[in-house]
Amino acid sequence: MRDVHALVTQWMHSAGMTVRVDAAGNLRGVYRSGRPTQARRLVIGSHLDTVPNAGAFDGILGVMLAVALVEQLEGRSYPYAIEAVGFSEEEGVRFNAPFIGSRAFIGSLDAALLDRRDANGESVRDAIRQYGLDVDHLDSATAAPESAGFLEFHIEQGPVLDSLNLPLAVVDAITGLTRCEVVFEGEANHAGTTPMAGRRDALAAAAEWIVQVERLARETPQLVATVGRVIAEPGASNVIPGRCRATLDLRHRDDTQRHESFKVLANLAHTIGMTRGVRVSIEPKLNQESMPMDASMTAGLTAAMEKCGYPVHRMASGAGHDAMIVASRMPVAMLFVRSPRGISHHPDETVRVDDVAAALRVGAAYLEAFANA
Ligand code: HGY
Ligand code: MN
Ligand code: MN
Repeated sequence: MRDVHALVTQWMHSAGMTVRVDAAGNLRGVYRSGRPTQARRLVIGSHLDTVPNAGAFDGILGVMLAVALVEQLEGRSYPYAIEAVGFSEEEGVRFNAPFIGSRAFIGSLDAALLDRRDANGESVRDAIRQYGLDVDHLDSATAAPESAGFLEFHIEQGPVLDSLNLPLAVVDAITGLTRCEVVFEGEANHAGTTPMAGRRDALAAAAEWIVQVERLARETPQLVATVGRVIAEPGASNVIPGRCRATLDLRHRDDTQRHESFKVLANLAHTIGMTRGVRVSIEPKLNQESMPMDASMTAGLTAAMEKCGYPVHRMASGAGHDAMIVASRMPVAMLFVRSPRGISHHPDETVRVDDVAAALRVGAAYLEAFANA
């Protein structure tokens, strides 16, 4: 993150911004308003962190488009300020707690989240301190009160635009998500001497549950469910796993359906545990409601696309984004850029240069219109 901050800060400076890192590690570049009395501010950005073995565009593209939009003003300014934001932690890989940067931006980075610990027992609070930031003054991370809207450019991360052969899409809503960790506690024992009957194999219990997770998602329209990380302990090939932690990522556009499906999967885990003599506990990590985008900002984005001559496609986002957090503090809108082959969270994630140019054109048209919005 230090390297990213150093590099993007350079680009922000050369685009004419004043740059700082706030107490939650968000990179904040502000480009002045042409009319200082008109303090209204448009925030444009996304996240700088990513996932293991990732591609090179998830998050960072949205920050770079913010910088590029300011850069191409070449010193001209609008009667409002522009703030480019690179959020510090959206994916939630280290602490299984996403949206840390954007939650600080809306002032909701609470003690419960600050005390969340990583695999080494280090807390979010420790990590912020170690980075050299003043975690006791998180108010420096909140959005400027004159912020009037948040615009996030992001790769689609799915196959829709590629299958329609379209460069861009306007997002109408972001799908809600549930994250939790399911802990299966059986009994470690010798792999060679312990009869199969009566074993309390935590990993076998988890495996039976994971197959049920996939089955339920396959059978429930628009439900997606993923167990992305399984840790079996003690983790030796000749020891029956006594304990197993499995993550669950559950998503559905309809929050009621998502909560229903979660209950079914939680009950399934307990039933499987009971039949196998394995204790099951469930640690909630996130319950993020689905979030509609702001109608008038989205209409402005649509008008900008039409003005630039691009076919308008509107779609929901299956991926979560900082915009769904910022939406509780100000109007938000999102513009998707095509993901060739629909690949993301993978080194093959990519974009087409023409599509990025199209996003830049639409963004410039949007900035123009925002002056009169
Ligand atoms: O998990 C997501 O939806 C996003 O990549 N943070
Ligand atoms: Mn991501
Ligand atoms: Mn992302």
